[in-house]
Amino acid sequence: MEATEQLAAIKKFTSQKLAGDATGHGVDHINRVVTNAKMLLAEEPSANYLITLAAAYLHDVIDDKLVSNVSSAQRDVEAFLGSVEFVPNQVQVVMFIINNMSFSKTLTDDQHPLPLEGQIVQDADRLDAIGAIGITRAIYYGGHHSEKIYDPKIKPRQNMTKAEYRNLDNETIINHFYEKLLKLPEQMNTPVAKRIARGRLETMTTFLEDFKAEWNGLK
Ligand code: ADP
Ligand code: NI
Repeated sequence: MEATEQLAAIKKFTSQKLAGDATGHGVDHINRVVTNAKMLLAEEPSANYLITLAAAYLHDVIDDKLVSNVSSAQRDVEAFLGSVEFVPNQVQVVMFIINNMSFSKTLTDDQHPLPLEGQIVQDADRLDAIGAIGITRAIYYGGHHSEKIYDPKIKPRQNMTKAEYRNLDNETIINHFYEKLLKLPEQMNTPVAKRIARGRLETMTTFLEDFKAEWNGLK
């Protein structure tokens, strides 16, 4: 199979898995991550194109917040990659990337450095969590999970474990910016993502200032 044919099949597989998602991890998110990854790939010629884009398409289909049985989802993806003629070595790299790139993974003791392809997909995914799109996704996700918009009495959590991060009791949409989104720009791997993230950080900072001023009736 040609790489374009393999990627078309992977795209279809992901679309079926994420169809109907209402938490901000739908096909539109995947398509933006793939577009971001292609842009970053253009600046990182030594990265492998097929591995990067395969991981970009598949990065959310084994996520523990989206599937109830992670190991069965993993076996499913592995079998599928074999069926589109990925050799065992390629399957292993893609699985390693999608198992180790998430923000929640950075909150566990079980962290593994990502290869360049994984660093690109991680940046591509994180770019879609910040800026104007990031603001919209946080509100969408928070609404879906019945979070409060804001409560000045509830302080942002510090040094969370993964379990604490996933526990949304007492979480607010505004606190999510302080707990995660404002930290992402400094965690970018590639120079281009770092540059883009700086602009998106400003968008979020201005938004938070305006939000608090309006909340307090000052604007
Ligand atoms: P990862 O898959 O990298 O672990 P998350 O699941 O934390 O990332 O985030 C995926 C998307 O959902 C991001 O856009 C993020 O901002 C949003 N999100 C995650 N947790 C919350 C939350 N508690 N409140 C609002 N948005 C959230
Ligand atoms: Ni994602």
